[in-house]
Amino acid sequence: MDLSGKTALVTGGSQGLGRAMASAFHSAGANVALLARRDGPLKDAQKEIEENGPGKVGAYQCDVTDAAEIETVHKHVVEAMGPVDILVNNAGKSEAHPFMSISDEVWQSDLDLKLFAAVRLARHIIPAMISKRWGRIINVLNTAAKAPPPGSAPTSVSRAAGMALTKVLAGELAPHNILVNALLIGQIKSDQIQRAYDASDRSTSFEQFVVEAGKRLPMGRMGEASEVADVALFLSSDQASYLTGCAINMDGGLSRVV
Ligand SMILES: NC(=O)c1ccc[n+]([C@@H]2O[C@H](COP(=O)([O-])OP(=O)(O)OC[C@H]3O[C@@H](n4cnc5c(N)ncnc54)[C@H](OP(=O)(O)O)[C@@H]3O)[C@@H](O)[C@H]2O)c1
Repeated sequence: MDLSGKTALVTGGSQGLGRAMASAFHSAGANVALLARRDGPLKDAQKEIEENGPGKVGAYQCDVTDAAEIETVHKHVVEAMGPVDILVNNAGKSEAHPFMSISDEVWQSDLDLKLFAAVRLARHIIPAMISKRWGRIINVLNTAAKAPPPGSAPTSVSRAAGMALTKVLAGELAPHNILVNALLIGQIKSDQIQRAYDASDRSTSFEQFVVEAGKRLPMGRMGEASEVADVALFLSSDQASYLTGCAINMDGGLSRVV
């Protein structure tokens, strides 16, 4: 798959799934802009990805919950590598609690991170995609978006909103050849899983924790970030030219709904 001449912006591009997706895009020839809050992981990712190929790799410190920061960083990305052709809304974190324990502040910050960041970035980026008659938007969500279990708010509710946003944008943007899809993540090895381990009783090693959690999944193992990146690369390519408005379970069979 060839993304030469394209520019991809990946939020949460400094580690985990975002870093793997950005690396795959860059290996396919794209320029990539990585957005995250912490400079250290951003610089590490930039250095590692730059070694893959000739495209530009930009590291941008940005809190995507902040509308003004998003606007400024988007301008800097366009100045450095041209209009964004591929937008991946990936920045996020696990936030699941019993409903009655969730304050307004927690609801608002989860929606700011998982819904409004995607809304605001899309609003900045879509006009140039329309001018070029080409664009790809991928919203990284989780399996709870389709099948929210008890105790999964506010994440499941924010993710369901992200799935609705995916469908609305897919319908509105299809006439402009801009394809919008969602990846619904199950359990993929990453820092998020490391944090779940850190919060556990840590009675085993991290490696054993991953193996044991994997055994509870239909495929018998957790997924790898590179497996998510392969699907994101396909969705971003010309080969995916008639695929839009889909929410794809990337979960090794975990979700009980299609
Ligand atoms: N891994 C899984 O099994 C799993 C399961 C379900 C859903 N997901 C979702 O998939 C996405 C990627 O997950 P991951 O496992 O790769 O997570 P991760 O390793 O924790 O990485 C999260 C990334 O998002 C960035 N980020 C977090 N808050 C941000 C903010 N306010 N502004 C800008 N960047 C921010 C982080 O960098 P900074 O902290 O430096 O900002 C980091 O680059 C997330 O949305 C996550 O919720 C993952």
